[in-house]
Amino acid sequence: MEQYKEAPFGELSPHVFAVAEASYRAMRNEGKSQSILVSGESGAGKTETTKLIMQYLTFVGGRAGSDDRTVEQQLLADAEKYKLGHPSHFHYLNQSKIYELDGVNNAEEYVNTRRSMDIVGISHEDQEAIFRVLAAILHLGNIEFSPGKVADSSAVTDDKSRFHMQMAAELFMCDVELLLATLCTRSRQTPDENIINNLDCNDAVAGRDALAKSVYACLFDWIVDKINKSVGQDEKSQILIGVLDIYGFECFKDNSFEQFCINFANEKLQQHFNKHVFKMEKEEYDREEINWRDIEFVDNQDVLDLIEKRDRLWMVFFCLSPLVHLPSHPPS
Ligand SMILES: Nc1ncnc2c1ncn2[C@@H]1O[C@H](COP(=O)(O)OP(=O)(O)OP(=O)(O)O)[C@@H](O)[C@H]1O
Ligand SMILES: [Mg+2]
Repeated sequence: MEQYKEAPFGELSPHVFAVAEASYRAMRNEGKSQSILVSGESGAGKTETTKLIMQYLTFVGGRAGSDDRTVEQQLLADAEKYKLGHPSHFHYLNQSKIYELDGVNNAEEYVNTRRSMDIVGISHEDQEAIFRVLAAILHLGNIEFSPGKVADSSAVTDDKSRFHMQMAAELFMCDVELLLATLCTRSRQTPDENIINNLDCNDAVAGRDALAKSVYACLFDWIVDKINKSVGQDEKSQILIGVLDIYGFECFKDNSFEQFCINFANEKLQQHFNKHVFKMEKEEYDREEINWRDIEFVDNQDVLDLIEKRDRLWMVFFCLSPLVHLPSHPPS
């Protein structure tokens, strides 16, 4: 970071710090807001890159935190209180079967996270609440369902699942019966009455995962809001640097509607990139009368048209409907 600070762009070897430095300089010198967009397919390293960019921007423009390390034993205390064990015991953590990464020490990461929370001014009470909600989500993911007594209904499988449900309810501070009803039934309000239907096991699992996702998303938004407030984001500030870390393109055997939207956003970005890099570069070559050999690239505009053009949109939904859950009415 020391090396890249104030070094003109292109002088040192290419590095994400050089990009962060260029945007910081441009913001300072020209007084203009900057955007950094981190793109690449899934797993390419966008999120890691984003972290490095933020680390650099904090280094050149922010305030550094103090270095008071807390005891690693907190971690074990934390695990005991929330009845957590090894990650391999939790459905939401064990699907990759990878629990250790070279060069990553979970205990250290935990201590760093707690320290960062201290620095941005998240109270210890709120920190506890964050870990409690996360633990609740993990327990929620371990609730399994088997067919209930009535056809197409579901019930919690066994004592182990019941324990996780009890834990989830305790940590969410909600009524366990209400949680059970939320997972195993669907209620609909009609003008006349409230209709309650049983859900089969697949629907109960889908509901469980949807609940976990939405609580996680709420927690994430809450943390972002909290951080923005406590780092004293200046609401009157005229200029800023925005860093966008998007979800990467990924193709699964069955793509969810969510992944479809992510892939669509990535294709749009790629098209933007093609237009700007290739077209503008070509224009510059033409202007300077440099011999230009066309660069071959895959142009997916047809795919975008298929999705974007209003008259064709419904067709896409129609083609996709066997693969993903979609609304049963045409999109407006
Ligand atoms: N610079 C790096 N140094 C070390 N490891 C890295 C680096 N960049 C990426 N990785 C490894 O690759 C993994 C995936 O990177 P990352 O999470 O940043 O991907 P991503 O592009 O954000 O993916 P997605 O689109 O799915 O969010 C990381 O967990 C890390 O193990
Ligand atoms: Mg990412």
